[in-house]
Amino acid sequence: MKLLSVGVVFVLVPALLPALDPLSASLFMGGAAITWQLFSSHSWLKCRLLECCNAKDTLNFSVVKTDLERKVFGQHLAVQLILIALSTNIHSKRPKKPLVMSFHGWTGTGKTFVSSIIAENLYQPSTSRRRFVHHFDTALHFSHASHVHLYKEQLQDWIRGNVSACPRSLFIFSEMDQMPHGLIDSITPFLGYHEEMDGVYYGKAIFIFLNNAGGDKITEIALDYWRSLKGREDIPVKELQHLLSKEIFSNTNSGFFQSQLIQKNLIDYFIPFLPLEYEHVKQCVREELRAQGHPEDEDLITEIALAMTDYPSEERLYSSKGCKTVASRVTLST
Ligand SMILES: Nc1ncnc2c1ncn2[C@@H]1O[C@H](COP(=O)(O)OP(=O)(O)OP(=O)(O)O)[C@@H](O)[C@H]1O
Ligand SMILES: *[C@@H]1O[C@H](CO)[C@@H](O)[C@H](O)[C@H]1NC(C)=O
Ligand SMILES: *[C@@H]1O[C@H](CO)[C@@H](O)[C@H](O)[C@H]1NC(C)=O
Ligand SMILES: [Mg+2]
Repeated sequence: MKLLSVGVVFVLVPALLPALDPLSASLFMGGAAITWQLFSSHSWLKCRLLECCNAKDTLNFSVVKTDLERKVFGQHLAVQLILIALSTNIHSKRPKKPLVMSFHGWTGTGKTFVSSIIAENLYQPSTSRRRFVHHFDTALHFSHASHVHLYKEQLQDWIRGNVSACPRSLFIFSEMDQMPHGLIDSITPFLGYHEEMDGVYYGKAIFIFLNNAGGDKITEIALDYWRSLKGREDIPVKELQHLLSKEIFSNTNSGFFQSQLIQKNLIDYFIPFLPLEYEHVKQCVREELRAQGHPEDEDLITEIALAMTDYPSEERLYSSKGCKTVASRVTLST
């Protein structure tokens, strides 16, 4: 762009100047100077058109709150924590470190669903998501344990490159449990407390890790509460967070096994996704029927929810697949 505008000025100016009176000529030069200004580095227009989405990160907190509270079932602990986390980072002028959250829970409990609700709300819908949401799928991006060295460099380059173009970037790492040990530690430098690193400021970036590790622990605790006749609302979230961090640090099947990110306390929030109960699965089925444009058939809703709540085998309290297979079950039965 720079070269192009310089080129235009040099070609056009000598050709046109003789034909213009002094006033027009100076106006023309002024215009050229402004054009030059606009396209030189860090100019507003260049940002708008070419590189970054620094236009405005417009996380509308009340919209995210309503969205999460209305669309996500049975995850009051997670929703409550995520809202605290987001508001702390978003409402701070210049956060000291990026926001780092690690989601834990059984399959189908809403981890991916919640991260896409956050992604949808970070910018105006017109902003292309590809610019600020970066999704790393372990199975897809980091599948060969022997290439860890290469992945480490690549990951650092991507994060540095993307955050410098777009400070409010969202990085989602899914299937953390399959992440080769040690790989995630390569991003340690970006998650810490720094003003800037090599001229890049990371405080507005958001990192989300999705894990199944820790899910069994969460279920165990929820079940204990249920057995002692206490509600899932009463589970103390502080205690759960502590247990989760301990669990994934020592679990060899976790991507955070002996990870520096945990040792150095760089993960700000461990977010528990509770196993879903019969009532929550019913809500998912009802929502799916609505989405597919079918009437809310109560018998069908009950039938699917009953079939899915299968754990533990005696009490059949939770759905071991969460709401994950609801959509296909609805498709098959309607
Ligand atoms: N708590 C929930 N509230 C509402 N819908 C849910 C919830 N959990 C899951 N769903 C529905 O089920 C689908 C699958 O859930 P999702 O992909 O978020 O699970 P996940 O926790 O990421 O599972 P996995 O660990 O297998 O990746 C979602 O797209 C959503 O439609
Ligand atoms: C957030 O969205 C609500 C509802 O669309 C709107 O009334 C409110 O003005 C918005 N707030 C900001 C800060 O944009
Ligand atoms: C940003 O991340 C994506 C992966 O989501 C990568 O392909 C791209 O090269 C990165 N951009 C920069 C400028 O590093
Ligand atoms: Mg998922």
